[in-house]
Amino acid sequence: MIDEKGLGADEVLAEIRALRALDRPTHGGRLFAYVYDPAVPGLDELTAAAHAQSAHVNGLDPTAFPSLLAMENALVAAAARLLGGGPGSAAPDVVGSVTSGGTESLILAVKAARDARPEITAPRIVVPASGHAAFAKAAHLLRVTLDTVPVDPVTLRPTVADVAAAVRPETVLVACSAPSYAHGVVDPVAEIAAVAAAAGTRCHVDACFGGWTLPYLRRLGVPVPPFDLSVDGVTSISVDLHKYAYAPKGVSVLLHRDASLRAAQYFGYADWPGYTMVNPVLASTRSGGPIAAAYATLRHLGDAGYLRLAAATRDAVTALAGAVRAVDGLRLMAEPESTVVCFTTTDPDLDLFVLVDELTARGWHTQPQLRYADLPPSVHLTVTASVAPRVAEFGPALADAVAAARAAGLVRLPAELRALATSLTPDALTPETVAALAAGLGLGAATPTSGSGAGTPDPRLGAAAASGPGEAVAATPERMAVVNTLLDAAPPAVRERLLVEFVSLLQRPAW
Ligand SMILES: Cc1ncc(COP(=O)(O)O)c(C=O)c1O
Repeated sequence: MIDEKGLGADEVLAEIRALRALDRPTHGGRLFAYVYDPAVPGLDELTAAAHAQSAHVNGLDPTAFPSLLAMENALVAAAARLLGGGPGSAAPDVVGSVTSGGTESLILAVKAARDARPEITAPRIVVPASGHAAFAKAAHLLRVTLDTVPVDPVTLRPTVADVAAAVRPETVLVACSAPSYAHGVVDPVAEIAAVAAAAGTRCHVDACFGGWTLPYLRRLGVPVPPFDLSVDGVTSISVDLHKYAYAPKGVSVLLHRDASLRAAQYFGYADWPGYTMVNPVLASTRSGGPIAAAYATLRHLGDAGYLRLAAATRDAVTALAGAVRAVDGLRLMAEPESTVVCFTTTDPDLDLFVLVDELTARGWHTQPQLRYADLPPSVHLTVTASVAPRVAEFGPALADAVAAARAAGLVRLPAELRALATSLTPDALTPETVAALAAGLGLGAATPTSGSGAGTPDPRLGAAAASGPGEAVAATPERMAVVNTLLDAAPPAVRERLLVEFVSLLQRPAW
């Protein structure tokens, strides 16, 4: 990798371009997850230049780099104003921090809540099952117990009574989403915040995903319930600028209603011979690049730009939902109320995971969601403004893909493999077992370095690709129905373990 003499700039960039050609398309409105594309000409060039100007600036010390502090404070003010805070609002003393993303914002919201209550030795947080997985990560990292509240399979929201019932004296934070990632629905924030306030505990609104769009959708006449700092009892709220603020990746904002609520988020340390470390967020050294790029995005798009992008997104959502409604055998999981279209199938002969593959084959990259509790498997579409110009092409492609999926029939896992998926325990899944399973499914040549002595592959694991017609076939990145069917059959703890091991197999040094 380290060339003896070093390569010329053109050669290096050509290498990266060749690697990037392997990726899913980040632009063009055909990838409905992971990326947020406003399709604004010139924005990429602007943000790249802004990023370059500040890439070497270090957020570690705001006194050494006041440029970064100024840009962070401007981003916090913009987010606060959009989300019901600032001078003259219901939250005039709002403060905030810029973090690297939604997960970090949520971890810090939980940390601040936990550390503000040192007298609670076994702290807990209450999170709807539809809350983002980052809350579970925060609970895991911070050794806080996660109390999950089920969501109603029809409304896809928790009931306020269930949230109230889950709150205990040790609860340091109650969370809700505005909107949820999986289905794009807004939780009953005002009612949940009231429950938290009555219990004397904090309430965090996770608006990481759609928090930048909801206020604009409201201005466009979409009914959006109160969800931000204007709601009594909401103590903190997070919004990701690298999602619907359309900034390049690496920027989220965590707001607290006042500085006393934020205090426990900070970490300061002087008990060593080096510099006194003061970190408002998880990272210490932080590049100024993403912050400058976000600053440039907000300044360039402006309020009118965001309103226009929200309108384009709303129109795209309406058209996509219409395309889904027009297909027999598909059902919207919820009437779209933000920027997500999510659907499932009502036809036992239509395999949703095959449909996802058929859409991929037609150049539309959607996100399959596995069954969970009472909720069926579904297909998730995160809709951004760039989808609007392509949306008319989606309906015919969907109809065509559904016809192809019906013709292909259901994925049938070999009975033994299905039985294995449902009976495996997470502990039984060693790297060797997963490597054998991945190889059996045709998923690359990953072979774990052994030597741990842990477990022998189960011979049944190699059977997936070797089944008869109409049954499982080898998976490829474009044909994932078999893998998704296997994961769908397994309980969440086994899914986690399988995929953790699988990703670990992928992450090997490129010698
Ligand atoms: C509602 C919600 N919260 C938190 C996150 C986590 O954000 P990130 O991936 O930036 O860490 C996401 C990401 O999709 C999200 O949708």
